Amino acid sequence: MSGVPHHIAIVMDGNGRWATRRFLPRVAGHRQGVEALRRCVQACLDRDVRVLTVFAFSSENWDRPQDEVSGLMSLMVSVLAKEVKPLKANGVQLRFVGALHALSDKVRAGLEQAERETAGNQRLVLNICFNYGGRWDIAQAAQRLAAAGEAITEASLGRTMALAHVPDPDLVIRTGGEFRISNFLLWQSAYSEFVFSDKLWPEFDPAALDDAIAAYGRRERRFGKTSEQVVANQAA
Ligand code: IPE
Ligand code: IPE
Ligand code: MG
Repeated sequence: MSGVPHHIAIVMDGNGRWATRRFLPRVAGHRQGVEALRRCVQACLDRDVRVLTVFAFSSENWDRPQDEVSGLMSLMVSVLAKEVKPLKANGVQLRFVGALHALSDKVRAGLEQAERETAGNQRLVLNICFNYGGRWDIAQAAQRLAAAGEAITEASLGRTMALAHVPDPDLVIRTGGEFRISNFLLWQSAYSEFVFSDKLWPEFDPAALDDAIAAYGRRERRFGKTSEQVVANQAA
């Protein structure tokens, strides 16, 4: 039994289908997705999860229809304007992870302000992956090391990657019924436990989070060792 995961990462998928099923524009699904994220952050605080990393916009999501992309960008700005204060009051440290230089000045200013305001918080680190791709992350780390003339090793890459400020995720959840990683934490999820949920992200609630945590608790994490070794280690 592994207890409550220290770090949970989530591919928040299914907003578009949630909206389409209700004959609503896809952006309405993203708005509802924000509500699900707010519930999820509170549930993580209540359960003493220390790091929550969510996939909000991928490197590939730029290829969506222009109105959806601009809707997502303005949603980010308006959500931050409203949510930073309560997040700050709840001890949440916001971190944005991705190719942030490629965002508009307005969006980037919002993200930077949110990070500044919550920088001292320790209760929960909330990493929002935005214009993020696992391949981008590995490539940018390698480029930075090469530019500095440093050796490229597992350790040097690990400390140059975008999530170097937190340990690797223990549990990765993907909602929306797909069984793929879609360029999420390629490097950091090497030994994560995966849980897939059929729920669309706007429907994901604390009970669904508890189901995922319970499934995680039934897994045996072996990290390449044998089951006998793991059991002996736990007894020691
Ligand atoms: C996930 O929901 C949110 C983003 C990718 C921004 P989707 O928008 O991918 O929803 P579906 O998969 O089309 O239902
Ligand atoms: C992954 O979902 C990205 C986010 C949740 C932000 P997608 O909906 O973009 O993934 P695919 O296209 O179904 O693989
Ligand atoms: Mg999707």
